This record gives sequence, structure tokens and C-alpha cells, in this order.
Amino acid sequence: MMDAFILQAIKYMDILDIAELKIPLQKVTCLLGESGSGKTTLLRLLNHLISPDSGKIYFMGEDLSELNPVELRRRVVMLPQTPVVFPGSVEENLLQGLVYSEKPQVPPEKLTMVMEKVKLSKELHTPAGVLSGGEKQRLALARILLMDPDVFLLDEPSSALDELTEKLILDSLTEYARSQGKTLIMVTHNRRMGDFYADYTVFLEKGHIQKTAEVAACE
Ligand SMILES: Nc1ncnc2c1ncn2[C@@H]1O[C@H](COP(=O)(O)OP(=O)(O)OP(=O)(O)O)[C@@H](O)[C@H]1O
Ligand SMILES: [Mg+2]
Repeated sequence: MMDAFILQAIKYMDILDIAELKIPLQKVTCLLGESGSGKTTLLRLLNHLISPDSGKIYFMGEDLSELNPVELRRRVVMLPQTPVVFPGSVEENLLQGLVYSEKPQVPPEKLTMVMEKVKLSKELHTPAGVLSGGEKQRLALARILLMDPDVFLLDEPSSALDELTEKLILDSLTEYARSQGKTLIMVTHNRRMGDFYADYTVFLEKGHIQKTAEVAACE
């Protein structure tokens, strides 16, 4: 099994201290741990939003600190824990991600398709400001799906959703990731969800890797 990321002897402030961690390529990895254990900080390291004080991170075998951060963030996209919504319409919000990743714009049909993937039934001209918390979260998710990166870093993508919508979204996301060979790294506080959707789980405790587990495939 090839790895998307390898972390070696990583220290970040007094928040993370990780001797070694490998995150598999083209798999669904769930990141679990108590509030404050360092899950978001770990995702931010993987996206080079922050740099470790010491240690090395490799992305696809390359030293992450030597990669162009803009280039990296075209391939590794993060969905923040609090969804970012820009002023303007749903459509403008969707297209904004493509601007950031310097990708060509897409026709409205593609936008409608990605909205369906996240179960968001709103008109493209709806002002994004009027969306509910859970709808904003799905809009942000749709925006990064359109960017079509190799790796998705999702920080509690379903925290604002009811159980049924959560299941629909995670089914759709993991099905998409598996069929398209994407790497999904997803923070969740819900252990049960981790067991259900993950190929691989990582448990963080106070900034340390408490354990990792490969989830047996049901075949
Ligand atoms: N830039 C920073 N400076 C100082 N402390 C920080 C910084 N960033 C994060 N922390 C602290 O590091 C710890 C881990 O934060 P982090 O956001 O990674 O936790 P988390 O596991 O994502 O928690 P949650 O489940 O609540 O989102 C917290 O105690 C937080 O206050
Ligand atoms: Mg967090």
C-alpha cells in the first residue's frame, strides 16, 4: 500500500508530537480524538498552512516543505471546520474555489451536478448568506469537490448535519472518493462513523498518536 503522507518525528509547539504516521493513498482515513487533541492542527500541517517546528512530512514521497505551497494546495484541499462562505450567490461561491486553485471555470450543469452530490437543493442565484449552517457546510464541500484535488482534508464535514443528511453526504463522498481514486482524510468525533466509513483510522490523544487501525474490508 502506497502512502499519501508520511510524517516523521513531527513536533508542533506543545500541540503535536508524532513519532511516525503514514496515511494511505487512495483510501478513506478517519482522524479521531477528543476536542483539543490536535486533529485540526494535523490537517493544517498536511496542507502546509503551518509548518512543523521539527521533523519531516513527505507528500507522495516528496519533502512537503520543498514543494510550492500554491501547487500543493491545488492537489491537497482542506475543508475548514467552520465553513467559509463568500458574499454573493451560491454560484459565485462554488466558482471561487476554481479561482483559488487556478482552474478553468465550468458550465452551470457541472455546478448543478456537484450540488446534487452534496444534496443541496438551492437555485444557483440564491444569496449564499441566507443558507442555514448545514447548507453552508455543504456549499463549502461542493466548492472543494469542484476543485477536484487528489487529496481531501475534511475537518468534520458533517458536524452541522442531522443524522440522515450526514449519512447521505458521507455515502456520496466516500463513493465518489473510492470510484475516482481520491485520498480522503476526514476528522470526525463520531467513532461509529469512523468505523463505518474508514479504511484506516488514526486516534489522536493530546497530540500523540494513540493508535492506528486498519479497518477490515467487508467482502
Ligand atoms: N496557533 C495556536 N497557538 C496556540 N495554541 C493553539 C494553536 N492552534 C491550536 N492550538 C491549541 O492546540 C490544541 C489542539 O487544537 P486543534 O484545533 O488541533 O484541536 P482539535 O482536535 O481539532 O479539536 P476540536 O475537536 O475541538 O476541533 C488546542 O488546545 C488549541 O487550543
Ligand atoms: Mg478541530
